[in-house]
Amino acid sequence: MSKDHKAAPLKIAVAGLGTVGAGVLKLLDTQADLIEQRCGRRIEVVAVSARSKGKDRGVDLSAMRWYDDPAALAADPDVDLVVELIGGSEGPARDTVATAIETGKHVVTANKALLAVHGTEIALKAEAKGLTVAFEAAVAGGIPIIKGLREGLAGNRVSEIHGILNGTCNYILTEMRTTGRDFADVLADAQALGYAEADPTFDVDGIDAAHKLAVLASVAFGTPVDFASVHIEGIRQVGAVDFDYADQLGFRIKLLGIARRTDAGVEQRVHPCMVPKTAPIAAVDGVFNAVVAQADFADRVLFVGRGAGAGPTASAVVADLIDIARGRSTPTFGVPADQLGAATPSPMETRRGSYYVRLMVVDRPGVIADIAAAMRDQNVSMEQFLQRGRSPGEAVPVVLTTHDTDEAAMQKALATIAAQDSVVEPPRMIRIEQF
Ligand SMILES: NC(=O)c1ccc[n+]([C@@H]2O[C@H](COP(=O)([O-])OP(=O)(O)OC[C@H]3O[C@@H](n4cnc5c(N)ncnc54)[C@H](OP(=O)(O)O)[C@@H]3O)[C@@H](O)[C@H]2O)c1
Repeated sequence: MSKDHKAAPLKIAVAGLGTVGAGVLKLLDTQADLIEQRCGRRIEVVAVSARSKGKDRGVDLSAMRWYDDPAALAADPDVDLVVELIGGSEGPARDTVATAIETGKHVVTANKALLAVHGTEIALKAEAKGLTVAFEAAVAGGIPIIKGLREGLAGNRVSEIHGILNGTCNYILTEMRTTGRDFADVLADAQALGYAEADPTFDVDGIDAAHKLAVLASVAFGTPVDFASVHIEGIRQVGAVDFDYADQLGFRIKLLGIARRTDAGVEQRVHPCMVPKTAPIAAVDGVFNAVVAQADFADRVLFVGRGAGAGPTASAVVADLIDIARGRSTPTFGVPADQLGAATPSPMETRRGSYYVRLMVVDRPGVIADIAAAMRDQNVSMEQFLQRGRSPGEAVPVVLTTHDTDEAAMQKALATIAAQDSVVEPPRMIRIEQF
């Protein structure tokens, strides 16, 4: 193209002007020249939608068409691409994306909940029309993990992913470890600081991490997104005292999303883990996210960065916009959606590995022998046993770790132990992950 004939701008519409939406508008404005160079054309925001028109968002919206209804915005015929930044797996976000695709527009979204639940269907519809659905911002915010896996490791088979995928949980666990305070106390602080939502359920109960894991697993393994098969446990049960024991045993406690592809199928789980202090991911603290991918030719790859916030998330959204403006496109999940190979989900009971168990038991003769017998009956072999102090007749904490065993056996042993009279609180178990 000659210099006199500038390429037409990419006209985009942005649905949702909250933390991420406003961040995207600011980034596009601040970096307009750089972005034009990288795209070979300008990216113009021609229309926007949010709930409240009057709200000051710190950005000038005067040149943009306003829509109260984001689905109507998505249907605007003078738009090439719709950016969905509303959130939620149903309702306006889902309608906006569906309308955009029906009316022939590319989509960029940060919405992991939507992709985790409807990702495969959305990809099928978009690809059938030759449209791109891009979602770098949906997993691990500013870390280019989707591109890293899908394009950067495209020549590999990825067998395993371990990720710190929720900054709120990582912040809470880091604070609990460094200050010795308990979960409720640190959560209240995190809410006051804006690191946790007023309703923290999605974060602390592991659902947000599970949404991201389901999307990552699809990209890594070329399988349909299967959120329903993710085993999910959050961090509410991790006690302040567990951090002391973890330290003593050489571990850090992290909420990990783990996806593994084995001959038996695909394993997807989110739960608190003990990881060796020496593992690089153990050093990823506070609101940071990290993903470790095990690839057959590249070997182990570690990605670390900010998993949320206006700047990092906008950075990921704009990277997707630049790709589309440049005409760069890959199938949504790396292979065409109609060729994603369904895989059998591996049930949690088949997990094999070692375990940390903390019990509160009445200190009297025979108690430890009963615990050991419950383990032995399930062929669970104990590796370490810690009992701090003695207080005959009173409840004392007892901690043990096991050698590698099956989850099903461990669960049976724990049920027997929990039923013993001398065990005064439900056993607390944290899986040990060596990787
Ligand atoms: N925040 C992060 O750091 C982060 C990181 C990664 C991914 N994400 C994802 O990015 C998306 C947006 O998150 P956010 O933190 O920016 O959320 P947010 O601050 O709550 O913003 C949501 C926006 O959606 C608008 N909205 C809600 N319902 C609407 C409706 N029915 N019609 C039109 N607009 C509507 C809201 O309008 P009003 O402003 O008028 O209320 C608001 O502007 C979510 O999918 C989230 O999971 C966020």
